[in-house]
Amino acid sequence: MKKVRKAVFPVAGMGTRFLPATKASPKEMLPIVDKPLIQYAVEEAVAAGITDMIFVTGRSKRAIEDHFDKAYELESELAARGKDEMLEFVRNMIPKNINCIYIRQAEALGLGHAVLCAKPVIGDEPFAVLLADDLLDGDKVPVMKQMTDTFDYYRCSVLGVQDVPRADTKSYGIVDARSVADRLEQVNAIVEKPKPEEAPSTLAVVGRYILTPRIFHHLENIKPGSGGEIQLTDGIASLLSEEQVLAYRYAGTRYDCGSKLGYLQATVVFGQRHPEVGPAFDAYLKTLGN
Ligand code: G1P
Repeated sequence: MKKVRKAVFPVAGMGTRFLPATKASPKEMLPIVDKPLIQYAVEEAVAAGITDMIFVTGRSKRAIEDHFDKAYELESELAARGKDEMLEFVRNMIPKNINCIYIRQAEALGLGHAVLCAKPVIGDEPFAVLLADDLLDGDKVPVMKQMTDTFDYYRCSVLGVQDVPRADTKSYGIVDARSVADRLEQVNAIVEKPKPEEAPSTLAVVGRYILTPRIFHHLENIKPGSGGEIQLTDGIASLLSEEQVLAYRYAGTRYDCGSKLGYLQATVVFGQRHPEVGPAFDAYLKTLGN
């Protein structure tokens, strides 16, 4: 089986938890310090050797396409003002060998449906899925790279997972799994957003997946699930009937930037380590008694 070269970024969601900030601009463009969430996710994919970035977009998502496109006016303005450093920065935001592909998801029919929209571009290859509002800060190695390394060894679908408090299972895909190696569990079952009393465990899927192309067959055949949507979790549950799926406990920290609290936490941590403002920001936080 081939290497993981393609990544899907489902970015058609409404972002209602961040209204009014997300009324006219996509939630994936919310910045953590000076970079939008979607750029962190793309950089994580690039670090894993992925070259084709497939964005499944919807209405009011033009800003994402513009962000990864050439910005002629901005570049000539920066050149005219002699802002060479900034110009280089804007020009080299993503490496030259990266392809950005955009697919429109006309109706928001769920995460599984969004992934299915990418089928014509993915073809018969394994691929990654990254949900940009989960900002994953890998220990030493970026999380998607940890996962592609796992895929290269085991050659099957790999889900990024972490333990969550039992009260929170209703916000996640939850796996029933059995430990097979360090950080690695074999998935027996997976269920979308179970009530705490019904959850098979507290091991939750975060927004990182590596999937074999066989997932498309299952996504095409499942019925709408939780919230009346075509759920990726249900597609994976169906895939389990014919393929092994592993859950990988990534090494790193997750910031749920789809929630205001997680977003603020990420802003503080990434602000403190920012090369330009970090020391001053840290000093400021200390004056607040942190
Ligand atoms: C989605 C998935 C869920 C997963 C979560 C991770 O849910 O459906 O299985 O655990 O992402 O962030 P959402 O947060 O879009 O409701």
